[in-house]
Amino acid sequence: MAITEAQILEALKSVEDPDLHRDIVSLGFVKNVVIEGSKVSFTVELTTPACPVKDILEAQARDAVASIEGVTEVDLTMTAQVRERPNPADTLPNVKQIIAIASGKGGVGKSTVTVNLAVALAEQGARVGIMDADVYGPSIPMMTGTLGQYPLTQDSKIIPIERFGVAMMSLGYLLQEGQAPLWRGPMVAGTVKQLLNDVKWGQLDYLLVDLPPGTGDAPMTLAQQVPLTGVVIVTTPHNVAANIAGSCASLFRRLNTPVLGVLENMGAMILPNGETMRIFAGKSGDELAEELGVPYLGAVPMSQEISYSSDIGVPVMKSLPEGDQASAFRTIAGEVARQASVVAVSRNLPSEEGQSLNFVPSQG
Ligand SMILES: Nc1ncnc2c1ncn2[C@@H]1O[C@H](COP(=O)(O)OP(=O)(O)OP(=O)(O)O)[C@@H](O)[C@H]1O
Ligand SMILES: [Mg+2]
Repeated sequence: MAITEAQILEALKSVEDPDLHRDIVSLGFVKNVVIEGSKVSFTVELTTPACPVKDILEAQARDAVASIEGVTEVDLTMTAQVRERPNPADTLPNVKQIIAIASGKGGVGKSTVTVNLAVALAEQGARVGIMDADVYGPSIPMMTGTLGQYPLTQDSKIIPIERFGVAMMSLGYLLQEGQAPLWRGPMVAGTVKQLLNDVKWGQLDYLLVDLPPGTGDAPMTLAQQVPLTGVVIVTTPHNVAANIAGSCASLFRRLNTPVLGVLENMGAMILPNGETMRIFAGKSGDELAEELGVPYLGAVPMSQEISYSSDIGVPVMKSLPEGDQASAFRTIAGEVARQASVVAVSRNLPSEEGQSLNFVPSQG
């Protein structure tokens, strides 16, 4: 008896997305089903190229179809299409996801994390940009070895500087070296708006925004100006850092920005003999995440290579791509992409009863 498309879709309904808790057929992930005799070809389109469970879903989908009676060959193509954050039309319609990187305390590694996550996402095939919203101490140019480059303009828009496959814009490119602007509140807001709107960002899957520390004008302006997918909170294992990170998370929630999760930077150091050593003994990232009721995204070790790489302007993702540090950033990038997909997809997904499933950031 001939194999039918209905049979294939029925079989694929047994494959469930672990984050969205729906099967891949009703999520609309299954495309281009072609049946040629006993050979079945189809595509599974995930919500991010950085999906951490890509291999598992691929194996399950393949097995489900292969087990249909009469199927002798399965030709499965895995692709990804990053889904849009809610209301993308308002600002930056060509940018699918905007994710802010924040912390309460300064110097916990936001900029380092931003640069390495951007490179990790780009490595997976996503189109990525970085907006340096730290107008007080823009550090993206230095950390990416692009300080001193001057952006060109086209149609009255600034063209981002491109490095490591990432499009970047920072006030640091527009200031003379050593120059520090004297800020008043409204100027900060104006500059953040310009970095968003006057830059030719082009088509991006992810725009990561490196915020200054604290909960001042820049984060407030950002959260009010654009529908953010969410915010990633960076903490270090110090109680002071964790406490301020907690207030920072609460502030974003009050602004209706989902908290995608907490990551710990400067966590346990990996010693040359493979053992780990925790240098700081304060509240850990997973403890803070649990307290806030948000996902824990992972830990980046305390590492001389990370600090050295930042200083020479080559992120550790590039200077030591096989190292534990790069692998930590890769894992976290996958988790961030995953949580961003959950926010984007849950808002647009009809529920079983035909109603919209609203993503409600959990309250801490
Ligand atoms: N995991 C790490 N191990 C060692 N050094 C690190 C690590 N993460 C960041 N650093 C170093 O710590 C310093 C501060 O990092 P970074 O500038 O990224 O922090 P920040 O939170 O962006 O700071 P600010 O609040 O001033 O913007 C830098 O010199 C950086 O190289
Ligand atoms: Mg910084």
